[in-house]
Amino acid sequence: MVGSRSSVRWVLAGLVAMGAVFLVGCTPSHPQSTFDAQGPVAQRQLEMFVILIWVSAFVFVTVGGALLYAVIRFRRRRAGDLPRQIHGNKKLEIAWTLAAVGVLAFIAVPTVSLAFYVDNPPEAEALDIRVVAHQWWWEFHYPELDLVTSNELHIPVGKQINLTLESEDVIHSFWVPKLAGKMDIIPGRQNEMWLMAETAGTFFGQCAEFCGIAHANMRFRVIAQPEEEFVGWVNDQREVPEAPTGLAKRGAEVFISKGCLACHAIDGTIARGTLGPDLTYVGSRTTLAGGILDNDPGGTNLGRWLRDPEEIKPGNIMSRQAAVYRDLSLALEEEEIGALVAYLQSLK
Ligand code: CUA
Repeated sequence: MVGSRSSVRWVLAGLVAMGAVFLVGCTPSHPQSTFDAQGPVAQRQLEMFVILIWVSAFVFVTVGGALLYAVIRFRRRRAGDLPRQIHGNKKLEIAWTLAAVGVLAFIAVPTVSLAFYVDNPPEAEALDIRVVAHQWWWEFHYPELDLVTSNELHIPVGKQINLTLESEDVIHSFWVPKLAGKMDIIPGRQNEMWLMAETAGTFFGQCAEFCGIAHANMRFRVIAQPEEEFVGWVNDQREVPEAPTGLAKRGAEVFISKGCLACHAIDGTIARGTLGPDLTYVGSRTTLAGGILDNDPGGTNLGRWLRDPEEIKPGNIMSRQAAVYRDLSLALEEEEIGALVAYLQSLK
């Protein structure tokens, strides 16, 4: 008796937990909700999902209902009371085989049509962007605009964006739930996809394929801007940052003397590293460290990141490289961190 009561409790707890997961997962207000499509690709993928969920619900209710009916209708009422025993039924076998074929054929029509839609960008005119995935950050190249940026993909609203996806190391996956995805990124080959944002805003993206210890921290933002704002951003990114002065000048020296230049590039300086993100305009980005920290104007988070990157993003390559090249830490003095923050914040 006690056993059955506690199992009822477990079942109830399970149902409540399932309900909570369902509610949390389905709220369109979540920054990564697929229920809040903001572009045509995500919209079509959402419609496909809705079709599938209704067909699955229909199959579940039909099969579950038939099972429940059989369990109740043919239950044992008295000891030794067996219903009529039969073996095989050709009509039934054919019926449910055809029913399954019918359901699959019904689903196949929108599935195939969606596959072609996602694979064939509709417009001839588009902005091409090359995405390079790294452990654990994103690099975005704009070949026509001669621009490179990291972890923040600026795009104009209402324009088709054709993406070419490449990996520098292992398998990653590109996913912006409100715009499009997912598309796997396989080392040694180029994958392609397209997307479009119909509204201006910042959309959260992340890597959706386990790619090592910091996979969960491999995030990015898509910043969709009205055309003129986007052009403004492009122009800002093309201006060579002013030569640093004061504390920032001291930071530029630390950047060279402490070896930051081995992995990072900054236009207009001798820094040409390609292992880490290009930092030419790092001061203009809204986030740091693969999109996991706000780049606050005061530089508090940048200071935290430089002081102990391992604490913020366990497994990150910067800590590892620092350990290889220096004595097991970034080993920066507080004064040097302050100078570096001033310098990097000035790069915009
Ligand atoms: Cu990259 Cu997971």
